[in-house]
Amino acid sequence: CGIVGYIGTQTATDILIGGLERLEYRGYDSAGIATVLEGKIECTRAKGKLHNLREKLEREVNPSQIGIGHTRWATHGKPEEHNAHPHMDAGGRIAVVQNGIIENYQELREELSDKGYQFVSETDTEVIPHLIAHLLPQNPQYDDFLQAMQKAIHRLNGAFAIAVICADYPDEIIVARNQAPLIIGFGQGEFFCASDVTAVVSHTHAVLSLENGEIARLTPLGVEVYDFDLKRLRKLPRTLDWNLTTVEKQGFRHFMLKEIYEQPSVVRSCLETYVQANWHPQTNSDSSPIDLGLASELCDNVDYIQIVACGTSWNASMVGKYLLEQVAGIPTMVQYASEFRYSPSPMLANTLTIGVTQSGETADTLAALEMEKQRRMGLEFPYDARILGITNRPESTLAHMVDRIINTQAGIEIGVAATKSFTAQLMGFYFLALELAYRRRHLSLDKIEGLIKGLGQLPGQIELILEKQGTQIEELAHDFMETQDFIFLGRGINFPIALEGALKLKEISYIHAEGYPAGEMKHGPIALLDAKVPVVAIAMPGVVHDKVLSNAQEAKARDARLIGVTPIDDTEARSTFDDLLFVPHVEELLSPIIAVIPLQLLAYHIAARRGLDVDQPRNLAKSVTVE
Ligand code: G6P
Repeated sequence: CGIVGYIGTQTATDILIGGLERLEYRGYDSAGIATVLEGKIECTRAKGKLHNLREKLEREVNPSQIGIGHTRWATHGKPEEHNAHPHMDAGGRIAVVQNGIIENYQELREELSDKGYQFVSETDTEVIPHLIAHLLPQNPQYDDFLQAMQKAIHRLNGAFAIAVICADYPDEIIVARNQAPLIIGFGQGEFFCASDVTAVVSHTHAVLSLENGEIARLTPLGVEVYDFDLKRLRKLPRTLDWNLTTVEKQGFRHFMLKEIYEQPSVVRSCLETYVQANWHPQTNSDSSPIDLGLASELCDNVDYIQIVACGTSWNASMVGKYLLEQVAGIPTMVQYASEFRYSPSPMLANTLTIGVTQSGETADTLAALEMEKQRRMGLEFPYDARILGITNRPESTLAHMVDRIINTQAGIEIGVAATKSFTAQLMGFYFLALELAYRRRHLSLDKIEGLIKGLGQLPGQIELILEKQGTQIEELAHDFMETQDFIFLGRGINFPIALEGALKLKEISYIHAEGYPAGEMKHGPIALLDAKVPVVAIAMPGVVHDKVLSNAQEAKARDARLIGVTPIDDTEARSTFDDLLFVPHVEELLSPIIAVIPLQLLAYHIAARRGLDVDQPRNLAKSVTVE
């Protein structure tokens, strides 16, 4: 979900709708806004995407200069209008938007119902306006709204970010944060709050990220920040070094396509940031060719690495595992963050824990890392907690909670299906593996230099794929308009790329797809194969190349249409596959970044051809801040 709030001198509805547009990627099954107008709350909500709300608002004239808004990703209660935020108290004096989950809402709902408060939705959020109404005195004085909010917060369990307005306080928005993101934007005589800076970046670059356990009061005169005991805190905004182009489509039909095409420059910027220019194995052997700014306490004496992540970040972590094991020689385990939370691996000494998340806000990933921190709290070396984050959002909650992050330089990604953030995470893993390999002297300096040179060529090679294959893949996509199942095969370092190819297709085209290690196909999924099930095989040069080709032959023998991701000079592969997605010839260790590009394009063009909402696929959200 995404929340936004505005107080200032402009028309609030316009600003709120603009903000919600930028936040729509966080959830889009219903939306709503509430303002204070002539001593009353005006609340408008609509089921479905934001344009439904926009149409409703166009019929109204509302000059109010204060308001809150919300775009929802349903957790409690179906995506119906009566479950859409804002939620109000029975008297219609208080309106609330919330992102997160109030875990004890049942208990509060019963308690408030017993006192006569009537509920009209199935949501957990609705308890909040009733609770505040209950705590607000009859004839409220200046600080009473803030105090009622503070008391209400003390009754809530769970992870949440909340914004509240009250008809009796037409000059105040009160917000609170506990384990769900919330930022405040500072303009000239106007202030904003939002789940994400994207909602405010067109108005101001001065932002403050609220921390857990903080409440703030926004008025036209300024922002006051307090802790949950209402002790005043001194906080200053920082300046974002962002421009608007990142949150605009710039002529591309979809954000996803724009982001696919941004990958060469993202990889280039990673290289510029982390590779030491002119490093040479002979003359510079005393300094690391990669500089991630990692302290020795964090990454020396590491015997074991555990990675937690979800979704696409989990797939990137699987490539990371391959690199950390094969390049740096460190045993590495990758776990879904949601699994780690309830069955953590046994606690070992000398362990580096890595959280990988493009949003930096995924609740499961943050909770898994917090748990690891807690269980090692107070323990001394070698059992101390060492936690590293990999993210493209240096201002996110993740960045605040870990010892250090690798900023993958991908910037903000708007398309819900991750593309450039994935390749950037892979770059983060290459650098980490190389830096650790250097520190541990696990790889010869010449080999390290060779890999770095290879990484340096990636931007040009990705450009080549985009340029030469874009149209061809678009044409190929026509053939799969009616296809219902796809299988993706890969082995070794490209097995996770098969998973990622399948995930991209599922997410945006709603075609059932499975990624499998090519050698495993014969142990089950081969039963699915016939002429209607295309098989995409990743056949890049390397130790498993011939094995993948023979696994592909097994599929061909079952009439499957075979599509190969393979280098242009691979004659053997040419004769195996029915369709070819050509890529440049690169060495095996560098091949995942090259192999994933045509798969992203294939998924994109199939979904676009089917006329689907590529950037905001059904049921998904970019940033899942609930468990
Ligand atoms: C959501 C998104 C996925 C993403 C996953 C993990 O489900 O739709 O695209 O891979 O969350 O997100 P994270 O921000 O932790 O990488």
